[in-house]
Amino acid sequence: MQILVRKLLQRATPFKQGIVRRTYSTNKVHDIGQPTPATHPQLLKEGEITPGITTEEYISRRKRLLELLPEKSLAIIAAAPMKMMTDVVPYTFRQDADYLYITGCQQPGGVAVLGHECGLCMFMPEATRHDVIWQGEVAGVEAALESFKAEKAHPLSKLRDILPGMIRGSSKLFHNMQTATPMYTELDDFQRAALTGKVKDLSNFTHELRWIKSPAELKLMKEAASIVCQGLLQTMLHSKMYPHEGMLAAKIEYESKMRGAQRMAFNPVVGGGSNGSVIHYSRNDQKIKNGDLVLMDVGCELHGYVSDLTRTWPPCGSFSSVHEELYNLVLETNKESMKLCRPGVSLRQIHNYSVEMLCKGFKEIGILKGSGSNSYHQLNPTSIGHYLGMDVHDSSNISYDRLLKPGVVITIEPGVYIPSIFDGPDRYRGIGIRIEDEVLITETGYEVLTGSMPKEVKHIESLLNNYSCGNGMEAQNNLEAASS
Ligand code: GLY
Ligand code: MN
Repeated sequence: MQILVRKLLQRATPFKQGIVRRTYSTNKVHDIGQPTPATHPQLLKEGEITPGITTEEYISRRKRLLELLPEKSLAIIAAAPMKMMTDVVPYTFRQDADYLYITGCQQPGGVAVLGHECGLCMFMPEATRHDVIWQGEVAGVEAALESFKAEKAHPLSKLRDILPGMIRGSSKLFHNMQTATPMYTELDDFQRAALTGKVKDLSNFTHELRWIKSPAELKLMKEAASIVCQGLLQTMLHSKMYPHEGMLAAKIEYESKMRGAQRMAFNPVVGGGSNGSVIHYSRNDQKIKNGDLVLMDVGCELHGYVSDLTRTWPPCGSFSSVHEELYNLVLETNKESMKLCRPGVSLRQIHNYSVEMLCKGFKEIGILKGSGSNSYHQLNPTSIGHYLGMDVHDSSNISYDRLLKPGVVITIEPGVYIPSIFDGPDRYRGIGIRIEDEVLITETGYEVLTGSMPKEVKHIESLLNNYSCGNGMEAQNNLEAASS
C-alpha cells in the first residue's frame, strides 16, 4: 500500500502538484507579516489596510501628495531601518511615520516611489527561507499589489535596475531624508541629481498633509488618548502602593498595553521630587520620598497614532502649601492657554500668552527676579506645546507661527522646573510640575482629548485618599523588593 502511494506521488505531474498547492493556500489565511482583515478580523474591517484606515484613505493621501509635488517629480520614501540591539537581536521595530502614512506597510527594508506617471511603485524586501524561519513572514511584491494597492511592485533586488530610469525621467526628486538609505542615494543618477540641485526634502509636503487629521485619524487619536488617561489614572491610584519611579513606569506601560496600545509613544518620564524638574527625565530608577511630588509624562501608540499626557501629584495624598501654590499657577496657565485654542490662532501666540501668565505668577510668588527672558528660561525652557499625531512631536516642519486649523491636534503643557541649585527661596528648590493635555482644534474652538484625567488639586487629593489601592505596609514591601 505504501509503495503504491509513493508511486502515485512520483507520477504526479507538476500541474497536479500546482493544484494541490493552490488548494492548500486558499485554505490558509495569508500572512503578510502585519495584521490584515483576514488574519486579525478583531482589529481590521474589510477594506482597511491598517486598523481604522481604509484603502480609499491611503489612495487619497497619495493623490493629495502628488497634487502638492511639482509636475514630473518623484517622491522616494524608504521604510525605517531595523536597528540591532546586539548581533542578530533587533530592537522593537517602529515604522517611519511618512512611509506608514503613504503605504500602510509596517515592515522595515522597503522603498516606496510615488510619481505622477507610475503612481505608487513599491520595492519590497525578499525574505529568504532562513528569514522566514527566524522572523516570520514578510510582505513581498504580491502584498504590495494586493494589500497595499500599489500600482507597481518589484523585489528590492531590482531597485538598482529600475529606479535609475525613473530618476532620469523626472524633473525633481523629493526624498524622506530621515530614512535615506545608500540603496538609492548611492545610485549614480541620484548623485547626479543631487549635484545639480534636483534633490529636495519631502517632509515639507508630508508634514503638511499629516498636520490636519482626518475623521478616521482622529478616532484613533481619541482612542489613544482615552487609553493613556485610563492607564495614568490607574497608575496614580497605585502610586501610594508603588512609590518608585520604575514601578510607576511599568504600571503605565502595562495598563496601556492591556487596553490595546502597541507600545509607549516615548520612554515614560517618571520624575519623583527634583527629578521632576528634568524635562525629559528617563532614568526612572529612584524611590519617591514621602511628601514629594511625582511628574509623569506619558503617551501610548495605537495603530500608528500617539497620545501625550502629563500629570503631577503627591503619591502620599496631599499637596504641601508650596506645591499647591506652584501647581495652581501651572493649572491656571493650562486652563487659560486652552481657552485661546481655535482656528486662526497660532501655537506661538498661545505660547507667548502662557509665558506672560507664568512670568506674572512667578514674580508674585517671588521666584522670578529679573525681567529678562534668561531668568524665565531658567524656570521653564519649553514651548507651551507641539503638534501631535503619528509622531509625538508631529509635523515638526510646520512653524509654530502657522495659524491653527480644524483637525490639528496640539498639546498644551505649561510647567515650572526649579533646579536643585536655585538662587531663590529654599522651599521652592527641586520642584518640577507640568500639566499637559491634548487639544483638538475644531471649527468653533477646541476639544480636550485628555479631559477625563483629573487635574484639580481637590480631585486628585480626593482620588488618592479615597480610591488608592493598597496600604502603607504593601508600599514598604514593594519598595524593599524594588531596592533588592
Ligand atoms: N511628552 C514629550 C514631549 O512633549 O516632549
Ligand atoms: Mn508633549
